[in-house]
Amino acid sequence: MPALAPQQQSFPDGRAAAWWVLEAINAGEVDRVGDALSSRTLDEREGALARELALGVIRHQRLYDHLAATFLRPGDQPQPLLLALRLAAHQFFALDRIPVHAAVDASVELLRTHGHQRLTGVANAVLRKLSRLRLAERTGEGPLGRIDPQHWPAQPAILHSLPDALVNDLRPLLSSERTLAQLNLVPHLCTRSRPGAPRPNGAGILRQEGPWSWWSDPREALSGQVARGEGVVQDRSQGRVADISGARPGELILDLCAAPGGKAVGFLERGCQVIACDIEPRKIARLRENLGPSVALAIQDARRPALQPVFDVVVVDAPCSNAGVLSRRPEARWRYRQPYLAQLERLQVELIRAASTLVVPDGKLIYATCSLSPRENQAITHRLDGWRILSEELSWPDQWQGGAYAAVLVRSASPARGE
Ligand SMILES: C[S@@+](CC[C@H](N)C(=O)[O-])C[C@H]1O[C@@H](n2cnc3c(N)ncnc32)[C@H](O)[C@@H]1O
Repeated sequence: MPALAPQQQSFPDGRAAAWWVLEAINAGEVDRVGDALSSRTLDEREGALARELALGVIRHQRLYDHLAATFLRPGDQPQPLLLALRLAAHQFFALDRIPVHAAVDASVELLRTHGHQRLTGVANAVLRKLSRLRLAERTGEGPLGRIDPQHWPAQPAILHSLPDALVNDLRPLLSSERTLAQLNLVPHLCTRSRPGAPRPNGAGILRQEGPWSWWSDPREALSGQVARGEGVVQDRSQGRVADISGARPGELILDLCAAPGGKAVGFLERGCQVIACDIEPRKIARLRENLGPSVALAIQDARRPALQPVFDVVVVDAPCSNAGVLSRRPEARWRYRQPYLAQLERLQVELIRAASTLVVPDGKLIYATCSLSPRENQAITHRLDGWRILSEELSWPDQWQGGAYAAVLVRSASPARGE
């Protein structure tokens, strides 16, 4: 088990910090790389390197392990060896600016400083061979763009470094427009203009559509449109939820899993009245900041809400595996496993059932996730007794948006208002 670094501990460089945080993630001691590193002492450049290395290794580790295995004896390998090989592989194949010899030397040195002297020989030998798979010129994005295709693994789950369970669950949905490769794309930063605010213009705007603008440089958006209060950072697939609900001005909306408030903002902008709840007291301040002083907030366990059935629209933006936003939440990638999924499914069923009791007779129930997995989406919404799907939308991730699912449900017996 890695010793948790004390709050003030500093690291000699970004690679050492990446090693620490990856060990801590593997031991289940850290949930988010960004949060763990932000509390450590690292200068800006080394901090950025640590994040890039740690998140890159988490994203691509299955591919890197497969390539390294070609040069290792069959069987399980010691964790520190795998960690050293993955860190160097990410530098070879994804970070064009780092010379191969520097990446090899640094990984071998990390093994030595962590007391794994006996692994340094094999690491050195494997890394020298692995580095020969690196193409002289980049041919595409990410590590695959720097690896000779003749060495690409045939199995899609390994090629795209995804858990088998996820690939199996997504297989029925795949097509030429919905590929596994898209799960690894990092979307451009997207902002949504506030109603009545001017449309942003700037050299870094890549595309605009309705209230949405996509930016090549996030800093330009953050220091401009967002800082002026004329827009918010919002993934389009998340922001669409309020739009597809068809909620009308003045309607009463209950957002049961509301923090940090992205979906609730969409309903406010449609002129609805919103009550926003979350189970986590520590998230309430952020909700207040994002939703403003006029919105009623409450701490509620949405499985057992102490509320009356008076809401025109009830929204359940359920905790999920994050399988649609793996590029933004890389740490979620390897949690897509049976016990965790079963636990999530139980929670999702409890939430949608409880939420359905709070909707007025001709009102709507909205269920949303940022997962693509049918077991967290259609398997939950299509089996809700007494309710039917009015509309549903699955957004596949691409360079413009993360993946998401949203369904609008109405009671089976009654046509919804405005249907
Ligand atoms: C996917 S996030 C919601 C994102 C939010 N709707 C938005 O658009 O910004 C799920 C939220 O559900 C909350 N949550 C988890 N279990 C809950 C429960 N039993 N009752 C209420 N909220 C819960 C989490 O704290 C988390 O903030």
